Order: sequence, then structure tokens, then C-alpha cells
Amino acid sequence: MQGSRILLVIGGGIAAFKSLTLIRDLQREGCRVVPVLTRAAEEFVTPLSVAALAGEDVHRDLFDLTREAEMGHIQLSRDADLVVVAPATADLMAKMAGGHADDLASTLLMATDKRVLIAPAMNVRMWLHPATQRNLATLKQDGVLVVGPDEGDMACGEFGPGRAAEPQDIVAAIRGALGPARPAPLRLGPEVAAKPLKGRHVVVTSGPTREPIDPVRYISNHSSGAQGSAIAAALRDLGARVSFVTGPAQFAPPEGVEVIPVQTADEMQAAVEAALPADAAVMAAAVADWKVANAADRKMKKGRDGMPVLEFAENPDILAWVSQLAERRPQLVVGFAAETNDVIANATAKRQRKRCDWIVANDVSAGTGTFGGEDNTVTLISADGAESWPRMGKDAVARKLAERIAEAL
Ligand code: PMT
Repeated sequence: MQGSRILLVIGGGIAAFKSLTLIRDLQREGCRVVPVLTRAAEEFVTPLSVAALAGEDVHRDLFDLTREAEMGHIQLSRDADLVVVAPATADLMAKMAGGHADDLASTLLMATDKRVLIAPAMNVRMWLHPATQRNLATLKQDGVLVVGPDEGDMACGEFGPGRAAEPQDIVAAIRGALGPARPAPLRLGPEVAAKPLKGRHVVVTSGPTREPIDPVRYISNHSSGAQGSAIAAALRDLGARVSFVTGPAQFAPPEGVEVIPVQTADEMQAAVEAALPADAAVMAAAVADWKVANAADRKMKKGRDGMPVLEFAENPDILAWVSQLAERRPQLVVGFAAETNDVIANATAKRQRKRCDWIVANDVSAGTGTFGGEDNTVTLISADGAESWPRMGKDAVARKLAERIAEAL
């Protein structure tokens, strides 16, 4: 599932709230979720909460001139690996079965060339109605995959079949619908013949972390995961076995590495610990220094108790912790330093404070394009001094760093 792109059509039913959990569960599996809301769905979940959770624009209008010029609904339906309709209301199912295309959701369901999975949810009588059962049979004949509905107590007070399938069951159905893992797009250059890191194990952290405020909001940063992915791929190309611990990144992870997706700094530390022992660790992740100590387990509501007051607690410093491990410290620990001023001085002090062997300093101040960009200008700092490299692509930085690591091991 890792790296798959799911186009999620959220229909207008009380079960729309489950789609918020579904988005999060899919992201945990490494999927990118592109949400589409029907007009009716907006009565149940807000575009803002869906956008915040998905980290994507929410698509709502068929006749959105900007988007039509940039991408268009046909493209939207074709770029996906799978189209998922959750919840699929009686009305959406009827539209699909009848071939209607009068809003964005129904139009892209007609236009897609990808598999479609629906998770029906509706009142028990609506589900059992001959019209719905007819539409269901038509959709199955058309090759549409179906998960649920479950049987149980319903929001309307009745009991029976019609409850939306639980998010974990929808995720399992999506996994089945996607089939065997799709090769992720490669972001690296030519095959490297020499394998100096063969037999070596390297742990790489990458991407941002997300610290929840409540189930729909979080604190994060601008890291795209490009630099960390490139490092993992470069180490793999030199023959290393790579454990790639990644926060929610904008890129599919490289092929041929063990991918461990995480969200928070605590999860990242646990994943690094589980991946040890290793010969080297490269910490390119942009880890949040703080987490919200009083994160709410329900969505915080505006206006009820005035402005929310967030309390913060310090996150573990994974780089400092791994550098100071008594027994399982990797032979070589490489940190990164993201600085906005006095880059080399601050990074040098950071290396000493955190006790890593090397630190790769980069300038992330506004206008550098380091976050999310293609290129990077770095200085490699060790106990022997600082070596500034010319500006180059992140892939080239990664290759050069991987070669240095190979020499050092
Ligand atoms: O992902 P991209 O868009 O390609 O951008 C790349 C990058 C700018 C994110 C990357 O090159 C980079 O600089 N990564 C480190 C970002 C960072 O968190 O820097 P820092 O100076 O705050 O942290 C110093 C080091 O401590 C880093 O190795 C970091 O992973 C580590 N750290 C920080 C905090 C924390 N709680 N735990 C940590 O392990």
C-alpha cells in the first residue's frame, strides 16, 4: 500500500465522520489520500477538517475554473491508484449504477479508469430497499468492489444492516483491491556497480513528524522527505540494508528499503530503537521538538470554552539518545542541522551537544528552498572540521554522503 494514491469520495451521510479516521489510517499505511466531498457530505464534515487531516486540497466543485485549467476532473480520477467511496450513500450508489455525472463525485466515478471500492452506509430500510439492492447488483456486475455494510445499532435508532464498515475493515479491503505492492517511483540516478556497504545495516530517519492537537489537527513542519529518501536510496545503491523510518512525507519511499512509517517523535524513537543494532544511523528527519501535552481525544470545538490553551512537553531527542547509547550505539551517527542563521557555528555546537560523529548543516531560512526543494547546500561537520559542498541536487548530496559513510565504515 505504501506510496499508493487513494482518491477518497466522501458521501453525505452520518458515517462521513468515519472517513476522517480512514484518512489517518491510510496515511499510517503510507498512502496519499486525495479527498473529494459531495455537497451533502459538507453537512457532516467540514472541508477544512478534511483538508487539515489529509494534508491535501479538498476537491468539491465540478466547475472549478482554476482546477479545470490545472488538472481537471478526468485527470483527478486517472491519477489515483484506487477510487474509494466512503460512505457510499443510497443516492451515490444510484447515481453510479445509473451512470449519472452531474457533480464532481459522480463525474469522476464515470471518468475513472481505476478500480472503485465502495463502503455503503445508510438506514437499514434504505439498504434493504429493492432499488438499492438492484443498484448494488448492477455495481457488482460493473466490477465495483464492496466492503460492508455492517449490521448493528444505527445513528437513526434502528437496528440491522446499513452501518458503515469500520475504517480498519475498509483499509483491509483497500489493501486487497490494490493487490501486490506497486513499485514506488525511483528518484535516483544510474545503478551503482560497487557495493562497499554490502553486509552493512543503516537506519535513516526522514520527513516531518506530526504531533496531534486533537484527532483532526496537528503540529508539523515543512520537511518533504526528499533529502531523507535520497539518502536511503543512495545507501541502498551502495549495498546497505536500509531501515527507513519516515514521517508523513510528500514522496513515495524508495524501493528496496525497509519502510517504517511513523507519525510522532515518540513513534519515530520507538521505530529507531526496534531497528537497532545498525552500523550507522543518519537522522535526516525534521523531528518536532515539542508535543502537545494536553492533546484532546475528541475534536476541539470552537467557541464553547473560549480559546484553547495548548500545553507543551518536550519530545525525546532521538539523535542525542542514539548517540549516547551505551551498548547499541551505531559505529557512525550522522545528524542533520536545520539552521536559519549562523549555520556553521550553530551546527558545530549542535554536533557537540548531541554527541553525534558528523552533522550535515543546511540553511533552511526563507528563500533557500531547502525544505521541499530539489537542491541543497550543505556543510559536513566532524571533529576534524567543516567541509562546505557546492550547491547540488539532493540526490547528489545523498550520493556524496553515502560514499563518505562507506569510506568511514
Ligand atoms: O525533507 P526535505 O524537504 O528534503 O528537507 C530536508 C531537511 C531540511 C528536513 C533536512 O536536510 C534536515 O535538515 N533535517 C534535519 C531537520 C531538523 O530537525 O533539524 P534540527 O536542527 O532541528 O535537529 C538536529 C538533529 O536532531 C536532526 O538530525 C534531527 O533529526 C534530530 N532531532 C531533532 C529533534 C528531536 N526531537 N529529535 C531528533 O532526533
